[in-house]
Amino acid sequence: MKANITLINGDGIGPEIVREAKKVLEAVSQKYNHEFIYTDIDMGGCSIDKYGVPLTDEAIEIAKSADAVLLGAVGGNVGNSKWYDVAPNLRPEAGLLKIRKELGLFANLRPALLYKELADACPLKTEISKAGFDMVIVRELTGGLYFGERYTKETDGVRTAVDTLVYNENEIRRVAKVAFDIASKRRKKVISVDKANVLDSSRLWRNVVEEVAKDYKDITLEHMLVDNAAMQFVMNPGQFDVVLTENMFGDILSDEASMITGSIGMLPSASLNESKLGLYEPSHGSAPDIAGKNIANPIATVLSAAMLLRYSLGLDKEAGDIENAVEKVLKDGFRTVDIYTEGMNKLSTSQMGDKIVEYIK
Ligand code: NAI
Ligand code: MG
Repeated sequence: MKANITLINGDGIGPEIVREAKKVLEAVSQKYNHEFIYTDIDMGGCSIDKYGVPLTDEAIEIAKSADAVLLGAVGGNVGNSKWYDVAPNLRPEAGLLKIRKELGLFANLRPALLYKELADACPLKTEISKAGFDMVIVRELTGGLYFGERYTKETDGVRTAVDTLVYNENEIRRVAKVAFDIASKRRKKVISVDKANVLDSSRLWRNVVEEVAKDYKDITLEHMLVDNAAMQFVMNPGQFDVVLTENMFGDILSDEASMITGSIGMLPSASLNESKLGLYEPSHGSAPDIAGKNIANPIATVLSAAMLLRYSLGLDKEAGDIENAVEKVLKDGFRTVDIYTEGMNKLSTSQMGDKIVEYIK
């Protein structure tokens, strides 16, 4: 197949990790005779330096016309970079918010997978980490508390601040469908997380998810309260396949899930809209502390490229090839410094990319 992929290097380690992901995409395209056409656009600090803004309108148009977008990361040193002490809309991160909004990305997917080989890095009890886990969190990304009406008022000298958590049934239905579609390609179980014992928005959430479930007869649906979910993540993470939840709960739970895998350099993410166009990026940031040293772990970005193939291009087998290659590389003891342990084979960023390519071939 022929596909247009927009590449965004971004800042910090961005160019180093995107380079490796592109190598891997090229290996797959050669193996299966696809033609991927890449267009680079600037976003973040590098775009501010060139054009004075974190993302130009021209760059957005290029991204919109692509089949998928692969991003490294944006941003400089927190609290100590030339892009920090400026108006919010001129910071590197504003580019990220703008592209998410312009592309209408309402579903954020974050897999949290504990590789057997990396179980030592998992902070959970040994018997839990030995059992392993493999879940995908589907977080609603454009509604809920972060997008509801908000204001602060002062009455008789008392300050009050108000945030509102709003969802309509269409917003719930479209993200629920994404979760069920993903579950149908996995272990066929959705756990929908809410706070239906207290919140009206959660009651609506539960009802609409039940309605959507009727179209997916082969998928098991369970509901779980968010406080219980937070406990279950550390007590029995193996029970989760697809976790479906609203924006703020998903924000918090996905960070919890990433920490129990033990290594941020391994976790990909995808943000999807109603069309096939999606934005794929590692869960970590631009890691300015290790930028330019060729030591960053490219695996989160490589696995984001695998998600790109699966969700935007429908290339399941090719995506699986990448995921299997990563697993085999780990199994054979190859590690970047962030996941290195005594006795393993230490690789640089580019060596890790080359090794994954070798295993794909
Ligand atoms: P970070 O994720 O960039 O780094 C946290 C720690 O993890 C650092 O010690 C870093 O060296 C390490 N690390 C991260 N990715 C790694 C990798 N692939 N291999 C090895 N080690 C890795 O988070 P931090 O330091 O809070 O933020 C740095 C910059 O990144 C900030 O400007 C922040 O705003 C931005 N950021 C951007 C995101 C994005 O573009 N989506 C997401 C999160 C942060
Ligand atoms: Mg967060």
